[in-house]
Amino acid sequence: MKNMRTAIYPGSFDPVTLGHLDIIRRAAVMFDRLIVAVMHNQNKTPMFTMEERMDFLRRTTAGLSGVEVDSCGGLLADYAARKNACAIVKGLRAVSDFEYEFQMALANRKLNPALDTMFLMTSAENMYLSSSVVKDIAVHGGSIAGFVPDELMEDIVRRTKKGG
Ligand code: COA
Repeated sequence: MKNMRTAIYPGSFDPVTLGHLDIIRRAAVMFDRLIVAVMHNQNKTPMFTMEERMDFLRRTTAGLSGVEVDSCGGLLADYAARKNACAIVKGLRAVSDFEYEFQMALANRKLNPALDTMFLMTSAENMYLSSSVVKDIAVHGGSIAGFVPDELMEDIVRRTKKGG
Protein backbone atom coordinates (compact mmCIF):
# COMPACT_ATOMS: atom_id res chain seq x y z
CA MET A 1 0.00 0.00 0.00
CA LYS A 2 1.50 3.33 -1.12
CA ASN A 3 0.66 5.49 1.87
CA MET A 4 1.17 2.83 4.49
CA ARG A 5 2.68 4.31 7.65
CA THR A 6 5.36 1.99 8.98
CA ALA A 7 7.18 2.38 12.29
CA ILE A 8 10.00 0.40 13.84
CA TYR A 9 10.16 -0.45 17.54
CA PRO A 10 13.79 -1.51 18.06
CA GLY A 11 15.43 -3.07 21.08
CA SER A 12 17.42 -5.97 22.48
CA PHE A 13 14.28 -7.55 23.99
CA ASP A 14 16.43 -9.82 26.15
CA PRO A 15 13.71 -10.79 27.04
CA VAL A 16 10.51 -8.91 26.13
CA THR A 17 8.75 -7.56 29.23
CA LEU A 18 5.26 -6.26 29.96
CA GLY A 19 6.76 -2.78 29.63
CA HIS A 20 7.73 -3.46 26.02
CA LEU A 21 4.35 -5.00 25.33
CA ASP A 22 2.60 -1.90 26.65
CA ILE A 23 4.58 0.25 24.17
CA ILE A 24 3.89 -2.21 21.31
CA ARG A 25 0.14 -2.20 21.97
CA ARG A 26 -0.07 1.58 22.14
CA ALA A 27 2.14 2.16 19.07
CA ALA A 28 0.36 -0.49 16.99
CA VAL A 29 -2.83 1.55 16.85
CA MET A 30 -0.97 4.64 15.62
CA PHE A 31 0.62 3.06 12.55
CA ASP A 32 -0.52 0.74 9.76
CA ARG A 33 2.47 -1.50 10.34
CA LEU A 34 4.70 -1.76 13.42
CA ILE A 35 7.87 -3.79 13.01
CA VAL A 36 9.32 -4.94 16.31
CA ALA A 37 13.00 -5.26 15.40
CA VAL A 38 15.31 -7.34 17.56
CA MET A 39 18.68 -5.69 17.22
CA HIS A 40 22.21 -5.87 18.48
CA ASN A 41 23.33 -3.43 21.16
CA GLN A 42 27.12 -3.47 21.05
CA ASN A 43 27.28 -2.68 24.77
CA LYS A 44 25.37 -5.84 25.76
CA THR A 45 25.89 -9.58 25.69
CA PRO A 46 22.43 -11.11 25.42
CA MET A 47 21.35 -14.05 27.58
CA PHE A 48 18.75 -15.27 25.07
CA THR A 49 19.58 -16.12 21.45
CA MET A 50 18.16 -14.06 18.62
CA GLU A 51 15.77 -16.94 17.78
CA GLU A 52 14.51 -17.14 21.38
CA ARG A 53 13.98 -13.39 21.63
CA MET A 54 12.05 -13.37 18.35
CA ASP A 55 10.01 -16.41 19.38
CA PHE A 56 9.06 -14.72 22.69
CA LEU A 57 7.99 -11.61 20.80
CA ARG A 58 6.04 -13.54 18.16
CA ARG A 59 4.14 -15.47 20.82
CA THR A 60 3.17 -12.36 22.75
CA THR A 61 2.23 -10.19 19.76
CA ALA A 62 0.43 -12.88 17.74
CA GLY A 63 -3.01 -11.35 18.31
CA LEU A 64 -2.00 -7.76 17.51
CA SER A 65 -3.03 -6.50 14.12
CA GLY A 66 -0.30 -4.87 11.99
CA VAL A 67 2.54 -6.02 14.26
CA GLU A 68 5.48 -7.96 12.77
CA VAL A 69 8.63 -9.29 14.40
CA ASP A 70 11.96 -9.15 12.60
CA SER A 71 15.69 -9.06 13.34
CA CYS A 72 18.37 -6.74 12.10
CA GLY A 73 22.14 -6.81 12.46
CA GLY A 74 23.18 -3.45 11.05
CA LEU A 75 22.36 0.19 11.56
CA LEU A 76 18.83 1.02 12.64
CA ALA A 77 18.69 4.03 10.30
CA ASP A 78 19.53 1.85 7.27
CA TYR A 79 17.07 -0.82 8.30
CA ALA A 80 14.32 1.79 8.66
CA ALA A 81 15.09 3.10 5.16
CA ARG A 82 14.90 -0.43 3.71
CA LYS A 83 11.51 -0.92 5.37
CA ASN A 84 10.27 2.48 4.21
CA ALA A 85 9.56 3.43 7.83
CA CYS A 86 8.67 7.00 8.78
CA ALA A 87 9.29 6.61 12.51
CA ILE A 88 11.17 4.84 15.25
CA VAL A 89 9.17 4.23 18.39
CA LYS A 90 10.90 4.18 21.78
CA GLY A 91 9.62 3.97 25.31
CA LEU A 92 10.82 6.57 27.79
CA ARG A 93 10.87 5.45 31.41
CA ALA A 94 12.63 8.11 33.42
CA VAL A 95 14.61 11.32 33.03
CA SER A 96 17.74 9.15 33.16
CA ASP A 97 16.74 7.60 29.80
CA PHE A 98 16.44 10.97 28.15
CA GLU A 99 20.00 12.01 27.36
CA TYR A 100 20.94 8.70 25.76
CA GLU A 101 17.67 8.49 23.81
CA PHE A 102 18.00 12.10 22.65
CA GLN A 103 21.50 11.37 21.35
CA MET A 104 20.33 8.25 19.49
CA ALA A 105 17.32 10.04 18.02
CA LEU A 106 19.51 12.84 16.65
CA ALA A 107 22.13 10.43 15.32
CA ASN A 108 19.46 8.34 13.60
CA ARG A 109 17.91 11.40 12.00
CA LYS A 110 21.30 12.57 10.78
CA LEU A 111 21.86 9.14 9.22
CA ASN A 112 18.35 9.06 7.75
CA PRO A 113 16.73 12.52 7.53
CA ALA A 114 13.35 10.99 6.66
CA LEU A 115 13.26 9.25 10.00
CA ASP A 116 11.81 10.69 13.19
CA THR A 117 11.81 9.14 16.66
CA MET A 118 8.58 9.09 18.60
CA PHE A 119 8.73 8.60 22.36
CA LEU A 120 5.92 7.06 24.33
CA MET A 121 5.94 7.61 28.07
CA THR A 122 5.99 4.29 29.81
CA SER A 123 3.02 3.42 31.97
CA ALA A 124 3.63 4.20 35.64
CA GLU A 125 3.65 0.55 36.70
CA ASN A 126 6.57 -0.17 34.33
CA MET A 127 8.81 2.74 35.36
CA TYR A 128 11.28 0.48 37.13
CA LEU A 129 11.12 -2.41 34.68
CA SER A 130 13.97 -3.55 32.43
CA SER A 131 15.06 -6.81 30.86
CA SER A 132 18.06 -6.89 33.25
CA VAL A 133 15.77 -6.64 36.28
CA VAL A 134 13.75 -9.61 34.99
CA LYS A 135 16.88 -11.72 34.39
CA ASP A 136 18.32 -10.83 37.78
CA ILE A 137 15.13 -11.83 39.61
CA ALA A 138 14.82 -15.07 37.63
CA VAL A 139 18.48 -16.06 38.12
CA HIS A 140 18.07 -15.62 41.88
CA GLY A 141 14.91 -17.70 41.99
CA GLY A 142 12.41 -14.86 42.49
CA SER A 143 9.01 -14.61 40.86
CA ILE A 144 8.83 -12.76 37.55
CA ALA A 145 5.02 -12.80 37.57
CA GLY A 146 3.75 -9.36 36.62
CA PHE A 147 7.03 -8.50 34.86
CA VAL A 148 6.75 -10.64 31.71
CA PRO A 149 3.80 -12.09 29.76
CA ASP A 150 2.37 -15.12 31.62
CA GLU A 151 2.90 -17.47 28.68
CA LEU A 152 6.67 -16.82 28.71
CA MET A 153 7.30 -17.19 32.43
CA GLU A 154 8.08 -20.89 32.39
CA ASP A 155 10.46 -20.68 29.42
CA ILE A 156 12.33 -17.71 30.84
CA VAL A 157 12.75 -19.33 34.26
CA ARG A 158 13.86 -22.67 32.74
CA ARG A 159 16.36 -20.93 30.50
CA THR A 160 17.86 -18.73 33.23
CA LYS A 161 18.33 -21.81 35.44
CA LYS A 162 20.42 -23.38 32.68
CA GLY A 163 22.85 -20.51 33.18
CA GLY A 164 21.88 -18.40 30.18
N1 COA B 1 9.46 -1.13 29.54
C1 COA B 1 10.36 -1.92 30.13
N2 COA B 1 11.68 -1.89 29.85
C2 COA B 1 12.09 -1.03 28.90
C3 COA B 1 11.21 -0.18 28.25
C4 COA B 1 9.84 -0.25 28.59
N3 COA B 1 8.93 0.52 28.03
N4 COA B 1 11.91 0.58 27.39
C5 COA B 1 13.18 0.19 27.50
N5 COA B 1 13.29 -0.77 28.43
C6 COA B 1 14.50 -1.43 28.88
C7 COA B 1 15.09 -2.39 27.90
O1 COA B 1 14.61 -3.71 28.09
C8 COA B 1 16.55 -2.31 28.23
O2 COA B 1 16.80 -3.14 29.36
P1 COA B 1 18.26 -3.76 29.61
O3 COA B 1 19.22 -2.60 29.60
O4 COA B 1 18.13 -4.38 30.91
O5 COA B 1 18.50 -4.71 28.45
C9 COA B 1 16.75 -0.87 28.68
O6 COA B 1 15.47 -0.42 29.05
C10 COA B 1 17.34 0.03 27.65
O7 COA B 1 16.52 -0.01 26.49
P2 COA B 1 17.08 0.56 25.13
O8 COA B 1 17.80 1.85 25.36
O9 COA B 1 15.97 0.55 24.13
O10 COA B 1 18.24 -0.47 24.74
P3 COA B 1 18.14 -1.79 23.95
O11 COA B 1 19.41 -2.53 24.16
O12 COA B 1 16.89 -2.52 24.24
O13 COA B 1 18.07 -1.28 22.40
C11 COA B 1 19.10 -0.57 20.32
C12 COA B 1 19.10 -0.46 21.85
C13 COA B 1 19.24 -2.03 19.89
C14 COA B 1 17.82 0.00 19.77
C15 COA B 1 20.31 0.27 19.81
O14 COA B 1 21.49 -0.24 20.39
C16 COA B 1 20.43 0.23 18.30
O15 COA B 1 19.75 0.98 17.61
N6 COA B 1 21.31 -0.66 17.77
C17 COA B 1 21.47 -0.83 16.33
C18 COA B 1 22.80 -0.24 15.85
C19 COA B 1 22.65 1.25 15.58
O16 COA B 1 21.91 1.70 14.71
N7 COA B 1 23.40 2.03 16.36
C20 COA B 1 23.41 3.48 16.25
C21 COA B 1 22.28 4.10 17.03
S1 COA B 1 22.34 5.87 16.89
